[in-house]
This record gives sequence, C-alpha cells and structure tokens, in this order.
Amino acid sequence: MSLSAGGYGQNMLPVAATITGIDRLTDKDCVFSIRLSKGGILRFRASQFVILSLFGIGEAPISISSSPLDSEKSFELCIRVVGNLTRAVHRLSVGDKVGIRGPYGNGFPMERIEGRDVVIVAGGLGLAPLRSLIRHVIHERDRYGRVIVLIGAKRPQDILFKEDILLWEANPSIEVHLTVDVAVPPWDKHVGVITKLFRYVDVDSLNAVAAVVGPPIMYRFVVSEILNKGLFEGNIYLSLERRMRCGIGKCGHCQINGIYLCQDGPVLSYMEARKLKEAL
Ligand SMILES: Cc1cc2nc3c(=O)[nH]c(=O)nc-3n(C[C@H](O)[C@H](O)[C@H](O)COP(=O)(O)OP(=O)(O)OC[C@H]3O[C@@H](n4cnc5c(N)ncnc54)[C@H](O)[C@@H]3O)c2cc1C
Ligand code: FES
Repeated sequence: MSLSAGGYGQNMLPVAATITGIDRLTDKDCVFSIRLSKGGILRFRASQFVILSLFGIGEAPISISSSPLDSEKSFELCIRVVGNLTRAVHRLSVGDKVGIRGPYGNGFPMERIEGRDVVIVAGGLGLAPLRSLIRHVIHERDRYGRVIVLIGAKRPQDILFKEDILLWEANPSIEVHLTVDVAVPPWDKHVGVITKLFRYVDVDSLNAVAAVVGPPIMYRFVVSEILNKGLFEGNIYLSLERRMRCGIGKCGHCQINGIYLCQDGPVLSYMEARKLKEAL
C-alpha cells in the first residue's frame, strides 16, 4: 500500500498507523515518528500535510516535517499542543495507534526551485514544514545554488529542531542564521525580529527563490525584505495555513476567493497570495 503525493484530493479514508518514536523539542512541541500499518509508505512532497486522527477525539491537519527523500519506513510530524486533539496526541506513547489520511496540499514546487539560489525563512512552528524542504535540498545539494536559511523564534528555548540546526550550521554548503526575539543567557546569536537577518542574504536575485513559513504577522514584513533584495513576486513561496476539515476541496472551510488552500495550497507564490485579500 502506498499513500502517494499524486493521490491527494481523492481519498478521505484514514489508514491505521503506529507511533514509533517521540522526541520532545520544547515544552509544547514534540516530534512523532509514524509508520503506516501493513508496510504502507507515505509518498509526499515537502510542505504537504496529512490529517491526523484520534478515534473519538477528532482530526487535525499537520505538516510532514521529515524529508520526502528519507521517509521510506516512517515519517515525522512536529505537533504543538494548542487544544483537544493536539493535547491528546501528546499523551500518546510509542506503540499507540493513530489514523492518517493524505498527503494533501500541493507542497513546494521543487522543479521550480532546482538550479536556483534558495532563501528559506522559518518563523516558529514554520520550521516544521520547512525542515522537510531543507532536508530535501541538502539531500540533493548539488541541484541548487546558494542555500540560505533564516530561523526565528521567540526565545532560545522555543527553537525547534536544535539537533538539525547544529548539523546545518556545521555544513559548509548552506548558510544558517538564527535569531530570537528575547535572548536568555547563554544565547550568543542574533536578537531581534527575523527581518533583521536579511542583511546576511546575498543571492542572485534574478535567479533566486524564497520559501517562507511562519505566523501570519510575519509574512508582510518578510516579503517586503525579500522584494527589496530584488526577487520576483512569482519566485516567493508562502505556505498559508487556514482552518481545514476535509483536506480535499469539499467542505469549503479553507476557501478564500475561490482558492481552496487544502488543494491549491497551502503553498502559493506571493503573486498568487496577494490577490487573496484576507490571506496576508
Ligand atoms: C496545512 C496545515 C498544516 C499544519 N501543520 C501543523 C504542524 O506541522 N504542527 C502543528 O502543531 N500544527 C499544525 N497545524 C495547526 C493544527 O492543525 C492545529 O493546531 C490543530 O488543528 C489544533 O487542533 P486541536 O484540536 O488541538 O485544537 P482546537 O481545540 O481545534 O483549537 C485550539 C486553538 O487553536 C486554534 N487553531 C486551531 N487550528 C488552527 C489553525 N489551523 N490555525 C490557527 N489556529 C488554529 C483555535 O482557534 C483555538 O484557539 C497545521 C494547520 C494547517 C491548516
Ligand atoms: S479543508 Fe475542506 S475544502 Fe479545504
């Protein structure tokens, strides 16, 4: 059995899956490694999402945070506790069962990113889907130009995927810059909002793409910095998350001006996104 990236938009049936690992990242975020039952394989693109369900509690869309290129046996979801479902997931243990449907959404257009400089901007939980993209790009490093990763969090203790970040910082083929809004000793990196990091972004603007995921408030300021660097509106990709139910373009919960973010998104170019007045 294979749940495939090409199959999104069709299937609403959850399949059984087992939690095979739990890694606590912060006081409210854990990464769950998940394996589909009966040897099933989830085939997906960076920044696609699944709908995770717990019997008798509900469902929630969650981005896949592992790389599409190293997820043969299991995949990873970084889940933040905010309400009923996410609280219940955090109470689960290795060996417990969940339901998975998807993958849904379009994901980042890797074919449009290939051969170009890539600027990746992650605010807070936005690093969850972007970790998938960063790992994908590192996996095929010679297919891209310069790779610059900007990461922002509220406080040092809120930074997600610290082990990955250490590896990325040690990797001479990518540039990583971190900032926190509020520093706490022994923090010795940047302090301030993520837009401050753009002074380190030096790319071939005519041949660069940007991928941005973070809290809605971040988008306008970040996009303005990227446009100042000379990138085209069509080369700036944003992931727009809205309340979603079905994930397959049926219920209308995620619809803005005729765009169904669960299918036509969540990744849109800034050129497309700025036409949706409510989106930015
Ligand atoms: C495409 C997509 C990808 C997502 N990826 C992730 C991910 O990788 N990790 C993760 O932890 N969460 C992710 N989310 C958000 C996640 O789906 C919600 O946090 C979850 O549905 C909350 O369910 P709950 O029952 O725990 O909380 P609820 O009881 O439903 O809600 C608790 C609080 O969270 C708010 N809330 C719920 N859903 C959203 C939402 N989509 N956007 C903003 N506020 C919301 C509610 O208004 C309420 O205030 C994603 C959402 C979308 C649409
Ligand atoms: S979530 Fe139902 S239409 Fe998009």
